[in-house]
Amino acid sequence: MAPNIICRKSWELKGLEETPESAFLNRRQLMAGFGAATAIGAAGGFSAGLAQAAEDPSAKLYPFKRNEAFVLDRDLTPEDVNSTYNNFYEFGSHKQISKAAQALKVRPWTLTIDGLVEKPMEIGIDDLIAKMPLEERLYRLRCVEAWSMTIPWSGFSLKSLVEFAKPLSSAKFVRFETFLDKSMASGQGQSWYPWPYVEGLTMAEATNDLALMVTGAYGKPLAKQYGAPLRLALPWKYGFKSIKSIVKISFVEEEPKNFWQVVGPNEYGFYANVNPEVNHKRWSQATERVLHTGKRVPTLLYNGYGEQVAGLYAGMEDQKIWY
Ligand code: MTE
Repeated sequence: MAPNIICRKSWELKGLEETPESAFLNRRQLMAGFGAATAIGAAGGFSAGLAQAAEDPSAKLYPFKRNEAFVLDRDLTPEDVNSTYNNFYEFGSHKQISKAAQALKVRPWTLTIDGLVEKPMEIGIDDLIAKMPLEERLYRLRCVEAWSMTIPWSGFSLKSLVEFAKPLSSAKFVRFETFLDKSMASGQGQSWYPWPYVEGLTMAEATNDLALMVTGAYGKPLAKQYGAPLRLALPWKYGFKSIKSIVKISFVEEEPKNFWQVVGPNEYGFYANVNPEVNHKRWSQATERVLHTGKRVPTLLYNGYGEQVAGLYAGMEDQKIWY
């Protein structure tokens, strides 16, 4: 195993540069008829998502009411751009995994909540959704590879799930885990990766208002390639922290090691907060490519969410919170 070589290949910026311009559809074409987050694309390419929505018992709950407290400084990424440019290594180490990801079976889906909690439990995704305060939020997503999107997520705050889980005071971190099934996800047959995908947050991060458990996007249940039926959205952190298709949430005492930290310990850390002034070891983080326009714009500290989260890191600025 040669984790650094694999890592270099996986995050290679060159790959982005090579993305054919045809992948970035004409923006005017895309925005025509794309008014609201709840707009469902009429053009081709959406059929898999629509079929999934029809089978999904939670589909009738959408769209969720938008929480207007979360505003954006730019247009939403059109659904057909977002749904065909994804990182989901379980289905391949490139961006065009949307077809392969349709093999993901999203029902039945059970979430295990364990570790330092009053009472460990298993709960079906639809029972969980029925207990949570549902809302839609417009969020940015900044990938560590220096591209970005803006997405209408549907879900509930991680904070409400933490309250539901009743962690003990000894819990210091939350550890998240993706499913493990290589018969369904061929990428998990690549034994040099440390499957299953794992992520972690401090308790303070997990209970910050911005941390969102996502069950849907664009006004309907999550398309499989986005990490159905349950993923995280942490808009102030690089996108790799937003773990997909979660099956287990554990409350723990020790800082969990995440997937990319294990693959590339010299390049990826636990916190991974967005900072344009701290470059990746192999490329600049000063700007980002807005996926649906192809234009480069300056990257903002904490991806523009400093007001909500900077306080979490008071006194830690000199430490490893930027990668
Ligand atoms: N979660 C899992 N389980 N597997 C992955 O490969 N990729 C991460 C994150 N969550 C990933 C994951 C990365 S690197 C990014 S940038 C985002 O998902 C991408 O989310 P998107 O495909 O919805 O844009």
